[in-house]
Amino acid sequence: MASTASLKLDDKEYPLPVMAGTEGEKAIDTRKLRAATGYLCYDQGYGNTGACESAITYLDGENGILRHRGYPIEQLAEHSDFVETAFLIIYGELPSAVRRKEFGLYLRQNAAIEMQMQRIFEGFPKDAPPMAMLSSIVASLAAHYPHLATNNFEKDLKTFDLAAAMAISKIRTVGAMIYRYQKGLPPIFPKQELPFCENFLHMMFSVPYEDYQAAPEVARALNLLLLLHADHEQNCSTSTVRMVGSSAANLFTSISAGICALSGPLHGGANMAVMQMLQAIHDEGDDGTRFVQAAKSGEKSHRLMGFGHAVYRNFDPRAKIIGKACDDLLKKLGVKDPLLDIAKKLEETALKDDYFLSRKLYPNVDFYSGIIMRALGVPMNMFTVIFAIGRTPGWIANWREVAADAKGRIYRPRQLYVGPVKRDYVTMARRAT
Ligand code: ACO
Repeated sequence: MASTASLKLDDKEYPLPVMAGTEGEKAIDTRKLRAATGYLCYDQGYGNTGACESAITYLDGENGILRHRGYPIEQLAEHSDFVETAFLIIYGELPSAVRRKEFGLYLRQNAAIEMQMQRIFEGFPKDAPPMAMLSSIVASLAAHYPHLATNNFEKDLKTFDLAAAMAISKIRTVGAMIYRYQKGLPPIFPKQELPFCENFLHMMFSVPYEDYQAAPEVARALNLLLLLHADHEQNCSTSTVRMVGSSAANLFTSISAGICALSGPLHGGANMAVMQMLQAIHDEGDDGTRFVQAAKSGEKSHRLMGFGHAVYRNFDPRAKIIGKACDDLLKKLGVKDPLLDIAKKLEETALKDDYFLSRKLYPNVDFYSGIIMRALGVPMNMFTVIFAIGRTPGWIANWREVAADAKGRIYRPRQLYVGPVKRDYVTMARRAT
């Protein structure tokens, strides 16, 4: 690999250092570019820009590879669970048996939402969008636990373990409470003895006079779903968390911003959009052929939801795992879902079609995650909330990297200004009507 790159501008040559990642990824270091040349890098959407060094997740979109702290997602999906993978993502290593137990206990001890905080719910309309509720309530953690959210990296890192456990555990509890609030049901409190996913299902579906007993395959499917969403390199919401965190904002505030970013349909909201699309196809009595045809028009409004990905130019490895899990779950539960049949048909048709093949558009993780959640009894408007619960470890680990980086700077991109050039103020009387 070359040790420097050379940039020629107006007959002058500028050497630019070259950097390499541990998996052989190469980068040109442009940190001094503007000072040396007066030029900035223009990279709308940051598709070619490395905004940080990170040791958390390795993603190779061309080859469909995803690894957390070096461990392939396929192995984690087969052998690990969400809580262990969360520990790995946050702390860098798989936990020993003792550490795993301590971490699980810490999550259980920090699951509850205090009375004062529960009152926030009352201020929301019953039909408020769940992600809007989630981001507001998570931001309020900074108000309820100000000693964990001082906006001073040094202090916030000292209390990081507690703040991280609270974030993972309470976001799940808040998620379940949002569901119940919208249904007009009283909240169900977490149980100390239940594992993470079983506890979530209990808080969602128990009734005061009867506990919900999660079938093992249901808890396993939820575990897998959360695990597969636990981190995904510098995606839109994670970059948002890093950006907000780079101003020394605390963990809770930064995660709340990540939740807002996740809510958009091109990111976390895609799982809902997939289900809406499948439902619309079903309601129209189409088998999906017309939707595929419309998607080929190139118009954004007709895109095949759940297809394509900003970085995968090959199969999303999570989609392979989840597609199979989806089949298995529906078989075990004996659920026949006409939307799954439509999804299969869509996948089959698109994967034979040159439009999708030539653009390397394959199903992404959201293509199947909605069907799994539906089978678990989760309503569509809660899908992205489940995604947020899953993504929390990744946000936490990324915030920590930012906070612990002694050489870190505030994230502050530049722009290519294309507005009016300098002009003089026009008084009201002289302005056109
Ligand atoms: N359906 C039809 N055509 C598509 C789709 C799609 N889902 N996605 C991309 N294309 C087309 C584009 O129109 C473009 O065509 P062109 O070359 O003729 O102009 C080409 O494929 C390349 O697309 P880009 O716009 O470069 O893809 P980009 O990387 O910007 O977008 C994105 C990625 C946003 C995920 C896009 O594929 C999309 O909108 N997919 C549907 C929404 C979705 O499923 N999002 C979930 C992402 S996964 C996640 O966040 C967990």
